[in-house]
Amino acid sequence: MAGNLDAPEAQTPKAGHPEEHTGFYVKGAESLDWGMKNRLARIFNPKSRKALMMAIDHGYFEGPIAGLEQVDLSVAPLLSHVDALMLTRGMLRTSVPPWFRQSVVLRASAGPSILKELSNEHLAVDIQEAIRLNAAALAVGAFIGSEFETQTVLNLTRMVDLASPNGIPVLAVTATTDEDTPHDAKYFRMACRICAELGAQFVKTYYVAQGFETVTSSCPIPVVIAGGGKVPELEALTMAHRALGEGAAGVDMGRNIFQSEAPLAFVRALRAVVHDGEPPASAYKLYCSLKEGHTPQG
Ligand code: 5RP
Repeated sequence: MAGNLDAPEAQTPKAGHPEEHTGFYVKGAESLDWGMKNRLARIFNPKSRKALMMAIDHGYFEGPIAGLEQVDLSVAPLLSHVDALMLTRGMLRTSVPPWFRQSVVLRASAGPSILKELSNEHLAVDIQEAIRLNAAALAVGAFIGSEFETQTVLNLTRMVDLASPNGIPVLAVTATTDEDTPHDAKYFRMACRICAELGAQFVKTYYVAQGFETVTSSCPIPVVIAGGGKVPELEALTMAHRALGEGAAGVDMGRNIFQSEAPLAFVRALRAVVHDGEPPASAYKLYCSLKEGHTPQG
């Protein structure tokens, strides 16, 4: 079809009006490609710049732990309250409805159960499978300081090599099975930095009460914290609040959500901490009110 010379002419910006350059808000991601940024933006909220992730991948090495016996029942009411769900492909296909609109962070490394040396992991998901499942990110264990440290580091770098050309970010999950390693800021600084140096786009680690800000400040990619074992709700909300105040970009909690006395009330209170900066005391008040079945005013 011939062009229409009478069509309105394209407008050009007014002379002297500066073009808008919007920097990308996820730490260390400025030079990544559009698809990678878009996936990160599906995990890290553009307004708060933080992420509320829920981890339910424990079964891949522990089986059906408390709170995850029937994932389709226990987790379904929580799904719309989190930004991302971290889980295995088996639980995704069997227990999460495909109309789930939040992001999937797919567990992509596995190996031994808790009955064996946990660090002996290999990659356990093919990149085509990750694409098929519409994963927003892939999670790979990095067992720094453990018996199979080098193998897990190579899992991480291999997955970065496979995922990057497909625009899929990789979450490095720091862990150690070495009982002699002190789990302090010095260790987590090293572990997180190694993961960033090796190409991960974000890293999951544990909060430590002393020096956590040195873990986040020396890591050029976002750090999200695991919850660890179940603690009272106020304590878990306090830990999240402190971690965010000390530079964490979000939480990726499991047991403290699905083993809470009232998981839905807890996840909503945690959301207020993560996205609204709610102090722990008022978030806990919200939790208590929701648990009792009423929404607080004001
Ligand atoms: C194990 C994991 C788990 O998903 C995660 O650590 C569990 O979260 P939580 O400690 O909050 O239960 O990544 O390697």
